[in-house]
Amino acid sequence: MTDLPHDAEHFVGRYAPRATPALAGRPRVPTLADSLAHFRRLPGMPAMLEGLGPGCRCLLQGCTAPTNAAALQRFLDRPQGRQVTVTAVDLLDLPTIYERLGWPIPPMRFVRTDARALGAHFAPGSFDLVVQDFLLNCAPPAEAPALLAAARQMLGPGGLLLLSITDSTGLHPLPAIPAATFAARHGVPWRPEARDLAALLPDPERRAALLAGLAERVVLGADGEEATLITAPHGRFEFFVPIARTLALLAAAGFELLLRDREQGSDDHGLECSRWRCLARAVG
Ligand SMILES: C[S@@+](CC[C@H](N)C(=O)[O-])C[C@H]1O[C@@H](n2cnc3c(N)ncnc32)[C@H](O)[C@@H]1O
Repeated sequence: MTDLPHDAEHFVGRYAPRATPALAGRPRVPTLADSLAHFRRLPGMPAMLEGLGPGCRCLLQGCTAPTNAAALQRFLDRPQGRQVTVTAVDLLDLPTIYERLGWPIPPMRFVRTDARALGAHFAPGSFDLVVQDFLLNCAPPAEAPALLAAARQMLGPGGLLLLSITDSTGLHPLPAIPAATFAARHGVPWRPEARDLAALLPDPERRAALLAGLAERVVLGADGEEATLITAPHGRFEFFVPIARTLALLAAAGFELLLRDREQGSDDHGLECSRWRCLARAVG
C-alpha cells in the first residue's frame, strides 16, 4: 500500500517536528505532546500513571505527528526506567510520508490499517494504554462507536484510554449552513459518512470551484448537532459533535470516566474551540 492520497503530505506536513518557514504565521496544529502536557497537570494524573506499572504497551489509534513516540516516553517516565513501547495505527502510510517530507522515522511500530478493525493485527488486551488524540475529529461521527469499541477491545480490565476531542458546542465563529441547503444550493447530496469533498464530488474541476466558496465553512447535519468543517486546500472534513454524546459512547463501549477537563483554544483555521481531555478506564 504505497499510494498516497494527494493531500496526505500537506496534511501530515502541518505536524512538522520543528517550526518551518512554510508554517510561519499560521496557528500551530496541536499535537499529542500538547495534550500530554495538559493531562500531566490534571490532579490525580500522576497516581493513575504510577498504576501502569514498570512496563507500558501503548497504542496510538490515529497518529500524525512524528514527535508522538518521544512525547509518550517523556509522559510515562515515572517510575524511571519504565519500559515503554509505542504502536501507531493510521490509515496513512506514515513512514513513507515522513521519508518524503525528509523527516527522521520515529522509534515506534507503524501499522497501516483502519483503527476500527484492530482484531486482525492484535489479540484482545494487547495494550495497557490506548491514545485517541483528536482521532474522533478526523472520522465521521458514525465511526465513533466502532473506534471506541476497538480501543476497549485492545485493553484488559483496568487499562487506560487518553482521549482528546474538540466538541461542537464551543466552535466559534461558526459560518454554518444546513446539509439540506448545501445539497440544494450546490446540487451535491450531503452524505454524513464522507471524509472529504472528493467523496461527494469526484470531478476535480467542479470540486475546486465549490471549494473556493466553501473552504472553512461548516455544514450542519440534519439533527443540527453534527458539524462538519470543510478545510482548505483539499476539502478534507473535520467532524464535531457535542461532548455529551462522546461521553455516552465512552460508557457504552465499556469505559468508566476518571477525569475530564476543558481547554479553550483556537485551531489552525482560526476557529475558537473547546478541547476536551478525558481519562477513562476499561471496565467489565
Ligand atoms: C487529527 S489526526 C491526529 C493528530 C494527533 N493530535 C497527533 O499529534 O498525531 C487524526 C489521525 O487519525 C487518522 N485516522 C482517521 N480515521 C482513522 C481510522 N478509521 N483508522 C485509522 N486512522 C484514522 C488520520 O489519518 C489522522 O492521521
